[in-house]
Amino acid sequence: MRDIWYCYPGASSWALKEVSIELGSGEIMLVAGHNGSGKTTLLKIAGLIYRPTRGEVSVDGCDFWMLEEAEKIMVRRRITYIHEEPVLMRGSVLENIMYPLRIRGLGREDAAMKAKTIMRELELMDLADKSTKELSAGQSQLVAIARALAAEPELILLDEPFAHLDSWKSGLIAQVLQARRRNGVGIVIASHGRGELPEGLEPDRIIILEDGRIRGMKG
Ligand SMILES: Nc1ncnc2c1ncn2[C@@H]1O[C@H](COP(=O)(O)OP(=O)(O)OP(=O)(O)O)[C@@H](O)[C@H]1O
Ligand SMILES: [Mg+2]
Repeated sequence: MRDIWYCYPGASSWALKEVSIELGSGEIMLVAGHNGSGKTTLLKIAGLIYRPTRGEVSVDGCDFWMLEEAEKIMVRRRITYIHEEPVLMRGSVLENIMYPLRIRGLGREDAAMKAKTIMRELELMDLADKSTKELSAGQSQLVAIARALAAEPELILLDEPFAHLDSWKSGLIAQVLQARRRNGVGIVIASHGRGELPEGLEPDRIIILEDGRIRGMKG
């Protein structure tokens, strides 16, 4: 992200100002800051959901927003943003986790097998047949994380992923994310502060946002 500025449509002030960062593979970055400091906006721009008002987002050296639609679809499949309040589709938990695999062309059986592997890793097998309408906030968060991991993205952007999770599940997600980091996946976590992260989750870099600007960087 190079010199990114973002203003929400109709808003009178900038939500992000002059933000430049490179998101690398095989590292965990924490984006910290108070409510309204711009964390979600930054993640959605990095997640190729919002187009910056000014500045450039490039992936492998290509300016993403200048790509053809078909190319954008391919690039977007490599990057996943997990919403603060994830939205799941109707249907069962298993179907939701299979979905990204199905749209990538996997057959039903292979998709189900792969989805179940992730569900076992996240200890979600008990929920496989449950309807997504019947999930608690924390369970929805876990299913959204499982669905994102199933797609094996190169970059995962998680917005307040631990907000609804108990300490056991937070610790489990921390382990799962660290295993992905070892495999070269880039991980970005938005959180109010370092203290919100589960014990044992060590970010390689910390970016501190204040009023839409980067106020500090560690690592
Ligand atoms: N849809 C929107 N329309 C207009 N302004 C918005 C919108 N969403 C966010 N903003 C503004 O943009 C700024 C950054 O918001 P953002 O959601 O990125 O903050 P955040 O750091 O994620 O906060 P939180 O910790 O509360 O999730 C805030 O000033 C906010 O008021
Ligand atoms: Mg936010």
